[in-house]
Amino acid sequence: MQKKPGLPFPKRFLWGASTSSHQVEGNTHNQWTVWELENAKALAAKAEYLFKDLDSWEEAKSEAKSPANYVAGDAVDHYNRYEEDFQILKQLNMNAFRFSIEWSRVEPEEGAWNAEAIEHYKKYTARLKALGIEPMVTLFHFTLPVWFAQKGGFEKRSNVKYFLRYVEKIISELGPNVRIVTTMNEPTVYALESYYNHHWPPAMVRSRYKLWRVLNNLASAHRQSAKLLHGMNRRYKVMISHNSAYYYPGDNAWLSRVSAAIMQYFQDDYFLRKVIKHCDVLGVNFYFSNRVYGYRVHSPQERVSDVGWDLSPADIQYTLERLNRKYKMPLIVTETGLADATDSQRRWFITQQLIGMQKALKEGVDLRGYLHWSLLDNFEWAYGKWPRYGLVAVDYKTQQRTVRPSALWFGKIIKAMRQEEK
Ligand code: BGC
Repeated sequence: MQKKPGLPFPKRFLWGASTSSHQVEGNTHNQWTVWELENAKALAAKAEYLFKDLDSWEEAKSEAKSPANYVAGDAVDHYNRYEEDFQILKQLNMNAFRFSIEWSRVEPEEGAWNAEAIEHYKKYTARLKALGIEPMVTLFHFTLPVWFAQKGGFEKRSNVKYFLRYVEKIISELGPNVRIVTTMNEPTVYALESYYNHHWPPAMVRSRYKLWRVLNNLASAHRQSAKLLHGMNRRYKVMISHNSAYYYPGDNAWLSRVSAAIMQYFQDDYFLRKVIKHCDVLGVNFYFSNRVYGYRVHSPQERVSDVGWDLSPADIQYTLERLNRKYKMPLIVTETGLADATDSQRRWFITQQLIGMQKALKEGVDLRGYLHWSLLDNFEWAYGKWPRYGLVAVDYKTQQRTVRPSALWFGKIIKAMRQEEK
């Protein structure tokens, strides 16, 4: 019998893992695909400069210096191997799975629906349901059809109608198997990385104005999608998966305290205020905390992931408590995880989070689920394939799946937790 951390979780708690289409499916053709091919060489050339100080560099460098790393290509071929992957979810005793629909497959050309792709996603969700796994659909997880990107994507308010047309089409096709719908993943991260930080396509020259405009258009797209979905059927639980982080002052100085509060506001509230009334549940993606000294972030870096992100998994408690206080609605952790190729920190990371979530539950947070990022190793955007986020390791050459020891352990914990639900 596994030792399990403390208190029981609520009834019907969702235990699962997350993925997104472009990161796992393989052979997608969208705005990212085009951008990757144009930028792979440059990204490979910059890798040493960017990552050489990481502890993981020795292990990662041959992959990270190769242009092939920066092209999603076959990814982990989940599009064809989903049955095998769903069996792993079962093996791990999970009852929920979060994935995204690839809009560019469903509508490869403007207004032209791809019946084969639609059929695929219908079968896919029906299969999850048949296995007793709740399908949690995301409609936009960072990738756009090429034609939509060429029209200016979410930079233009007049383009929102195309998104709505896709939402209506795919959701009506998926039918009664789907209940939980996330309109978009991390809109603030998408807007910042694509329109301000210059990391992701269209990799615009820094523009505060564009950033602001894209955020407002995304908020409008969410609000209108929520109205549409609720109009289609009240059973839909409409969400956003929001990227949060916990900001805290590193000392008692006035400046540190004020800066941490301002940063927290921009992390969470600036955008959430625009959409929260149109959410039934709030999805929370949590990866790290930020310690603030003066007006700068200076995190302890006592434990870091393979990509150098500060690991403070128990702080998920404070993020959940704050969002609960502010927005008073059910929360689901829709992503959290770490790049850890040797699987030496994942079990510790998950244990800390279970404890953090239990403390939050005790404080009255209405927490409904925990979905780990990710089920499988996958294409980590501008980092490419070398960071390993999977509960399941994938050999990119053979596509062989190996469940990591931390995942086997987590599967047993889930089983014990589900037996004890209140
Ligand atoms: C994104 C995922 C990504 C993960 C790890 C999240 O912000 O939603 O697509 O892989 O972080 O970086």
